[in-house]
Amino acid sequence: MRPDQIKSLPTAADTHDFGTRLAAILRAGDLVILTGPLGAGKTALTQGIGAGLDVGGRITSPTFVIARTHRAGGAGLPLVHVDAYRLENLDELDDLDLDTDVADSVTVVEWGAGLAERLAESHLEIAIERDADETRRIALHPRGGDWAARCEQLDLPVGAPA
Ligand SMILES: Nc1ncnc2c1ncn2[C@@H]1O[C@H](COP(=O)(O)OP(=O)(O)OP(=O)(O)O)[C@@H](O)[C@H]1O
Ligand SMILES: [Mg+2]
Repeated sequence: MRPDQIKSLPTAADTHDFGTRLAAILRAGDLVILTGPLGAGKTALTQGIGAGLDVGGRITSPTFVIARTHRAGGAGLPLVHVDAYRLENLDELDDLDLDTDVADSVTVVEWGAGLAERLAESHLEIAIERDADETRRIALHPRGGDWAARCEQLDLPVGAPA
């Protein structure tokens, strides 16, 4: 998928599938920041990523906890799922006991724009917008590193050599 290209995801299942495909390009230390209004599908997308990584535990909206760590599964990568909605500053994130080092994990942050960028020099920002119907429009914004090249790989059929 080209940077900033908009892709339509008509159903929740499509968003989940997209997350699963996205998981294939993720590596240890990655930071993914999800933006979009309430109910946009940030958690739904994270559930797809979690399924793709085959992590343990159910991925839910972490409303009462700021972050939850899901143990590594088939892909060998734990998933740190953060909801920064009520987070005032990054110090609070540093203070969290995540049970894992973010350098060894994939970190997905909902509501992290303007806050979580400092966690990693490069990151992938994913913007989700909601249409009048249930369709979501999604755009990938690679920020530094090799994210742009990795996003291109999302066009390849699953399992194709990169
Ligand atoms: N095309 C779609 N993509 C994603 N979710 C969809 C779609 N169509 C309907 N939905 C529904 O929209 C809801 C999205 O909720 P979700 O909790 O993922 O949003 P969120 O962005 O995490 O919200 P919050 O800001 O409260 O964290 C789910 O109930 C999901 O089933
Ligand atoms: Mg959510």
